[in-house]
Amino acid sequence: MSVTITNLLQPGRYRLVDGVHMALADAGALDRRNVEAFAEKWAWTHHRPGAAEYEEMQYRRFLTFYGFPDQAALVAFLKGKSVILDAGCGYGHKANWLATLAPHAQVIAMDLSESIFIARKLYGDRPNLTFVKGDIADTGFLDGTIDFVDCDQVLHHTSDPQRTTVELARVASHGGHLALYVYARKALPRELVDEYFLSKQRPLSSEEIWDMSDRLTRLGRMLYELNVELDFPDIPQLDIRGGRQNLQRFFYDNFLKCFWNEEIGHEQSVAVNFDWYSPHIAFRFTAEEFLAMTAAAGLSPLYRYSEPACHSGLFLKPAS
Ligand SMILES: C[S@@+](CC[C@H](N)C(=O)[O-])C[C@H]1O[C@@H](n2cnc3c(N)ncnc32)[C@H](O)[C@@H]1O
Repeated sequence: MSVTITNLLQPGRYRLVDGVHMALADAGALDRRNVEAFAEKWAWTHHRPGAAEYEEMQYRRFLTFYGFPDQAALVAFLKGKSVILDAGCGYGHKANWLATLAPHAQVIAMDLSESIFIARKLYGDRPNLTFVKGDIADTGFLDGTIDFVDCDQVLHHTSDPQRTTVELARVASHGGHLALYVYARKALPRELVDEYFLSKQRPLSSEEIWDMSDRLTRLGRMLYELNVELDFPDIPQLDIRGGRQNLQRFFYDNFLKCFWNEEIGHEQSVAVNFDWYSPHIAFRFTAEEFLAMTAAAGLSPLYRYSEPACHSGLFLKPAS
């Protein structure tokens, strides 16, 4: 029997509107307000210069985050998957990529924000891709129905990441896999700026945050173009990691997020900075906290990856 989304959902949870399955239950106000920042970001970025380069960079990062040596290894992994959920899919580029790599599978692109309508507009012609607007902490999928849950760069943006992880583990099949990612806790100076900004600067309008993101991008570019590499000292009392590194990277990881990436260019880099400063839910985790959260959801790590900005891994929901 071919898989259709209605076989996977608890009855009465969604109604189909213009090709998008819309959750009937409201997500909490905090999450709804939080995803407005993403709706705005994706509406702005998806058609700007550098979008294709941004997507390519994201696909390469995905392979790194979840332990696939190359795209062929991911294709081989996906061969065994019939139902794939991209939980928090943004404007759907990664869900579309997965649907292309796994044409035999049914891929569900899910996001709480209005960006799901952009996803539907861009990729609605792909026969094995379905669009769902709803909260990934309360998906409405039946237990054990999803063979591969991809939740890339999303968990920390939900109001209760532990609850979201438990929900994603619930819907995963026994023997199924989950690709999970969270922001890492940074050095103290960087955490102080970020935390202060997240908790105190809410009165800033989104125009002001776009303007700030533009300025930060220019700062990041200036530091990058100095092209200076130095041997920085470790300062463990402040969690500052030294070693030989580029000045921009050292400043960025330890003091202030000022993203700049030559490959994706100015506008996409501005959006990456906006993505950091605009959502008001952005938890950060140590590697131990991340592992404890996944273990509490009954998941076993198969592959783990960390870098200064994030922790990620491929997890197994053990056979019952
Ligand atoms: C940083 S983006 C990551 C998008 C995509 N997974 C990627 O890797 O490019 C986070 C996405 O998660 C979505 N999101 C945040 N909280 C959510 C929730 N509770 N339910 C569904 N989507 C959510 C946001 O709307 C946003 O599109």
